[in-house]
Amino acid sequence: TDRYAVIGNPIGHSKSPLIHGAFAQATGQDIEYTAIEGPLDGFKATVEAFIANGGRGMNVTIPFKLQAFEIATDPMESARLAGAVNALKFEGGRIWAQNFDGLGLVNDIQRNLGVSLAGKRVLICGAGGATRGAILPIAAQKPAVIAVANRTAAKAQGLKADFAAHKALQTGGYDELAGETFDVVLNATSTGLSKDELPLPAGVFAPGALAYDLVYGKGLTPFLKQAQAAGVTQLADGVGMLVEQAAEAFEWWRGVRPDTKPVIARFTIPLV
Ligand code: ATR
Repeated sequence: TDRYAVIGNPIGHSKSPLIHGAFAQATGQDIEYTAIEGPLDGFKATVEAFIANGGRGMNVTIPFKLQAFEIATDPMESARLAGAVNALKFEGGRIWAQNFDGLGLVNDIQRNLGVSLAGKRVLICGAGGATRGAILPIAAQKPAVIAVANRTAAKAQGLKADFAAHKALQTGGYDELAGETFDVVLNATSTGLSKDELPLPAGVFAPGALAYDLVYGKGLTPFLKQAQAAGVTQLADGVGMLVEQAAEAFEWWRGVRPDTKPVIARFTIPLV
């Protein structure tokens, strides 16, 4: 039995053990996947102890995503650009690091929701870690435009330097979106956990647009309510992203691709 775990603090609400357990059962992989509450001042020591006990890989969640980047011997491009890590693989003394959140998001949008990003106008709200992780996987699908809007416009503009190769990237504040419309609008701010709407100008949603909140399990978030009020009918939360990023990690560790559809169905919470 190969050992894996998710590490975070707090960790009680993590769905990862259930998701990976379902993948393991469906693919016949003999693994154990547990949840570890890492002490706030003891992330590195906890990971080292896990490796010493034969651990093969870990998912990493709040608040350790940056520390996981720091302990990596081999951060992959996805982790370097996001500046954060959500999956580790331990192999022969090396610590490989990835961030599968962005790829999970893109796979969910295209494969599960059936929305191709090629040629589309995509708006990402927020300029934190979630946005950093999403830009490259989205850019790889060749959208017409990727706009990043943020409350603190300078933080969005700061992304320009790191993603200079991507000419389709536009950055700024929400007021600069006036008069523009988007086919796919993503909420990568932390407002899914609050009551705050975003200061999106009227008309930002194109007819037939997809509104997607990256948060999972919060029902109709303020952002999704706002989209619905603007006439958007295609609404999604981050359940598919959660399961798809897990599938990427599972395949990276085990070399087997699990079927995500039944697992997404199991964890879907109605958007009401
Ligand atoms: P994550 O790593 O999950 O992306 P983060 O780095 O803390 O989280 O970023 C949170 C994002 O949510 C930021 O873009 C933040 O905007 P600021 O950079 O202006 O702080 C955004 N955010 C949080 N609360 C917000 C609110 N009430 N309205 C608009 N944006 C908000």
